[in-house]
Amino acid sequence: MASRQILVGVTGGIAAYKSAELVRLLGKQGHRVIVVMTEGAKAFVTPLTFQALTGSPVRDSLLDPEAEAGMGHIELARWADLVLIAPASADFMARLNAGMADDLLSTLCLATTAPIALAPAMNQAMWSNARTQANLDRLSQDAQIHVWGPAAGDQACGDVGLGRMLEAAELAERVAGFWERPLAGMHWVITAGPTRESIDPVRYISNHSSGKMGYALARAAADAGARVTLVSGPVGLPVPAGVDRVSVESAEQMYEAVHAAVADGGDLFVAAAAVADYRVIDPAAQKIKKSRDRMTIELTRNPDILSSVAALPSPPFTVGFAAETHDVEHYARDKLTRKKLDMIVANDVSDQRIGFNSDVNAVTVIWDGGQQQFPMSAKTQLAEQLLESIMARYQAKP
Ligand code: C5P
Repeated sequence: MASRQILVGVTGGIAAYKSAELVRLLGKQGHRVIVVMTEGAKAFVTPLTFQALTGSPVRDSLLDPEAEAGMGHIELARWADLVLIAPASADFMARLNAGMADDLLSTLCLATTAPIALAPAMNQAMWSNARTQANLDRLSQDAQIHVWGPAAGDQACGDVGLGRMLEAAELAERVAGFWERPLAGMHWVITAGPTRESIDPVRYISNHSSGKMGYALARAAADAGARVTLVSGPVGLPVPAGVDRVSVESAEQMYEAVHAAVADGGDLFVAAAAVADYRVIDPAAQKIKKSRDRMTIELTRNPDILSSVAALPSPPFTVGFAAETHDVEHYARDKLTRKKLDMIVANDVSDQRIGFNSDVNAVTVIWDGGQQQFPMSAKTQLAEQLLESIMARYQAKP
């Protein structure tokens, strides 16, 4: 493995103790590591710990003439091949998003052109707070920024939920794989979001799909080097970095866009969209007036996009989703066979915590002859695990 120059930023949080192990592992991988700590971080771990592990003095001040006389903050920013902030506190992510430069680490992040990876760690309520999520959404739109984790589980404060920093070994593995582009040369076609079926010029039939799972998959595939076409129904999400988005409204438009993309060298098709099963036969040209007490709207079946792709003479590798409220595995297996898919990702949408509009999900991936369970985690995190699982099956396919 090539030796890289990694600047590890440590911010204030109890997970800072795990960063000592992280720094040790990065050193073992042959990387050169310099640690920059915030004031908050020093309340949890001493700079001496990191100095002993990296063999270099820890940098913690922007206004230290002695340190700046050596490698100044701009030189540090240029030195780094990767800036890894672990743990990344809610406060740090807020400052980063706002473009603040009020300490050494935030200033470095503004000055560097190197990729910045964030390993968030915080209490689950702080993580799910709308302000934290808004900061995260904006940061994730930036191609320079990568978000690794968090994981779900027990927290130091006694809570249980999302917000645990990924383990040191997992972060070190991410660093090891960071410069690899395992999906280079592949074309992924992904659908996401709901469709809208017009009733008249102002009304439509739709569903609660947020598009988050499909968008997270698109970002993960693009990060891994794939060319990604994301055929998306109307959602409020920004286009993920490195992804080519085709915006559609109705199922019929989605069908056309998907087939055009698949014909353009699609290797893999992931249908994460919640496509309306029916559309209005004859949408009114003008707004329907409420004159009658009862009204009937006649619907007709939409084409099944996923089945139609799987039925092509030489289909791409097809992955479907099955959102079910009961007998999840049974219905998912049935869909796998009936639609002739390579894999299906099943989730239980009767569980209020996961699924549709949530930032988290828990799924079971099923294929002919096997299955794999993924416990509750952030959709961004889950997307990366799904990607690995999909690639394993894709490569195993004769
Ligand atoms: O049959 P059901 O709608 O439950 O199947 C869900 C899977 O099929 C999802 O992957 C969804 O994106 C896909 N689908 C589709 N076109 C449709 C209906 C569903 O691609 N018209």
